[in-house]
Amino acid sequence: MTQTPQNTKKLFIKTYGCQMNVYDSDRMADALAPHGYQPVSDIATADLVLLNTCHIREKASEKVFSELGRLKELQAERRAGGQDLLIGVAGCVAQAEGEEIARRAPVVDMVFGPQAYHRLPDMVAKAAGSRHLHPALRTPVIDTDFPEEDKFDYLPAPQKEVVIKRGLTAFLTVQEGCDKFCSFCVVPYTRGAEVSRPVQQVLAEARGLVAGGVREITLLGQNVNAYHGLDEAGNPVGLGQLAYLLAEIEGLARLRYTTSHPRDMDDGLIAAHRDLDILMPYLHLPVQSGSDTILKAMNRRHTRDDYMRVIDKIRSARSDMALSGDFIVGFPGETDKDFEDTLRIIADVGYASAYSFKYSTRPGTPGANLDGQIEEAVKNERLYRLQALVDAQTTAFHTSCVGKTLPVLIEREGRMAGQVGGRSPYLQAVHFEGSTDLIGQILPLEIIGTSTNSLVGKLTQAGLNNSDISHDTTRKSVSVDESRVA
Ligand code: 5AD
Ligand code: SF4
Repeated sequence: MTQTPQNTKKLFIKTYGCQMNVYDSDRMADALAPHGYQPVSDIATADLVLLNTCHIREKASEKVFSELGRLKELQAERRAGGQDLLIGVAGCVAQAEGEEIARRAPVVDMVFGPQAYHRLPDMVAKAAGSRHLHPALRTPVIDTDFPEEDKFDYLPAPQKEVVIKRGLTAFLTVQEGCDKFCSFCVVPYTRGAEVSRPVQQVLAEARGLVAGGVREITLLGQNVNAYHGLDEAGNPVGLGQLAYLLAEIEGLARLRYTTSHPRDMDDGLIAAHRDLDILMPYLHLPVQSGSDTILKAMNRRHTRDDYMRVIDKIRSARSDMALSGDFIVGFPGETDKDFEDTLRIIADVGYASAYSFKYSTRPGTPGANLDGQIEEAVKNERLYRLQALVDAQTTAFHTSCVGKTLPVLIEREGRMAGQVGGRSPYLQAVHFEGSTDLIGQILPLEIIGTSTNSLVGKLTQAGLNNSDISHDTTRKSVSVDESRVA
């Protein structure tokens, strides 16, 4: 066993919210690694705890304040034992409520927004440097600026061993922020204006991930299909074109992206779905509501028919496309008829999965000032009915896969002994009886049944022969480091 160096410090990051926060947490860990911080999974042993927060709905930020209450006790215990604990709040709650956090929770040493992650090592040094001061004299380090510089130019790439440890699938943020200003949403305020990373920066990061054994990359952005990063000649490149470039990386077997806006689902991206096997046939395309009146009040800038036309185009390019969406019930002014329109669009589209939420008033957004706020009981009832419809569609979609053979990227041990599991092209979890030696491969599995939220598979003869059937048969299988098959 390797000895932990004396100067190693332990870092615990708790991540709330979306996949971009998961990605950001990894980048924060990467930024602190050269300064001796090693991630740990037990918060009680940490020298530095970072809460990477989410502000999208009300409950999300309340959770942060209750966690800070628990951390206060942990910090007191550590201090009583002659040790210390630094606490930082990152993410969108920090961005939106930096001063409020510092006031409500003096236990916090650092508060910083998503655009300041590259400055984290400096902030930690500054916070640690003021520990000798009496608590009454200490002020938290607050950094919620939207800096001029591009944080990605300063954030270090993860070490190869770290990529290997993180697994076969990885997130890669290509675009951040949003200029759409839907009237319910805090993202344009917390993440700022839409910014796309340059093409070469994205390709370099993707190559690094693949060199570390990653087989599937999910491109992330709050409005990912609005991506317009510049190439070396200074020309903007759309997400579709970026997908063609990523498809050339040898060893990369699967590509996904999330989250998209219907208005940005352009012909280039739809063509990429037609042409590229690497691009998985699963699309998260939120519509939020099926009522044109509500879509207008939400400032979505598309109608129900616009959305349906986009869906038709996508399905003409890729007939097996599985669709997913987001829905909000109880937006101010939503009548029974508006809600019925939402149920109708769900029935018309036929979703493989969907996420649904009760409208939550977000201070500072235009929706917060609208008349006609909906009673909680009505929201509950609508959410219940909507989720019942979506659940039935998800079950029907899973059931329609039974009897088919699907290529599954085998990612991990299953929950039961002797099982391994992975994902279908449609992002369904699939588990089957098999050896952990198969982890890292894409194998054809016959789907023989369904269980709650997942599929049950069986290795086919081709799979038993242990052949890798990534869609591009010319692609070589990546050798997977033993350490990920722990
Ligand atoms: N209330 C409820 N749901 C919301 N979402 C965003 N803002 C709100 C809000 N104020 C949902 C939308 C979005 C998803 C990420 O969260 O459906 O697509
Ligand atoms: Fe929020 Fe998405 Fe609308 Fe942007 S497009 S404001 S991120 S819901």
